[in-house]
Amino acid sequence: MKVFAHRGASGNYPENTQIAIESALSVGVDGIEVDLQSCLDDYVIIHDTWLDRTTSGQGKVNKTPLAEIQRYDAGQGQRVPGLQDMIDWIGNKTLLNLELKHTFSLDKLVATLEHNVQQGLLQREQLIVSSFDHHQLVWLKQHLPWVKIGALTSSIPLNYAEFAQRLHAYSLHLDKNFVNHEFVADAKQRGLEVYAYTVDKKEDILDMRALGVDGIFTNYPCNTKMILANDA
Ligand code: G3P
Ligand code: MG
Repeated sequence: MKVFAHRGASGNYPENTQIAIESALSVGVDGIEVDLQSCLDDYVIIHDTWLDRTTSGQGKVNKTPLAEIQRYDAGQGQRVPGLQDMIDWIGNKTLLNLELKHTFSLDKLVATLEHNVQQGLLQREQLIVSSFDHHQLVWLKQHLPWVKIGALTSSIPLNYAEFAQRLHAYSLHLDKNFVNHEFVADAKQRGLEVYAYTVDKKEDILDMRALGVDGIFTNYPCNTKMILANDA
């Protein structure tokens, strides 16, 4: 079962920041999940649409320029990363799951991802783009056909197989509380990966593995890897 660091190792470090990424990489995670938002003039890696919870700044992310956002403290002296920072830090070391939040101008995202692939800074196989905004995913797949699409939902959608097919999904990302054995078995048989969020407690981690889930998102990747190794 793959272990994705959710917003980096965000249980121990400020979420979506360089130290959270470096910590996750240092414990050998299989992947890192971060949240992508549009700010006024670029992209930033931040979960909320407002700056207030995770930075020393205030106001809406999409109304604030990158240079201003990066002057704020994202915790422990960290700054809010841009998309290129994130790609540079992760390098070719692990899977990168970019979760689109309120992200606009997707043509610019396509151009940035293509450029990074051409420069060898990102391998196509490394990237999964997920979102709760399925319209964005449809658009992205049309314009970047090689991208692996992660369909984010809370529970299992009705007619989920049709839904996954329509999105050309590679993976389904569900709230752990809605995952069940029958669903995982059926999804696997259809060639879909099943990932569960957000899984931090030992019992939940072991339950997800027992259900046959392909990957989990956790805020505590170091602890999670230890639990999985000790309970092999
Ligand atoms: O991608 C899984 C998970 O991150 C989705 O919810 O709110 O933590 O971004 P959220
Ligand atoms: Mg997320």
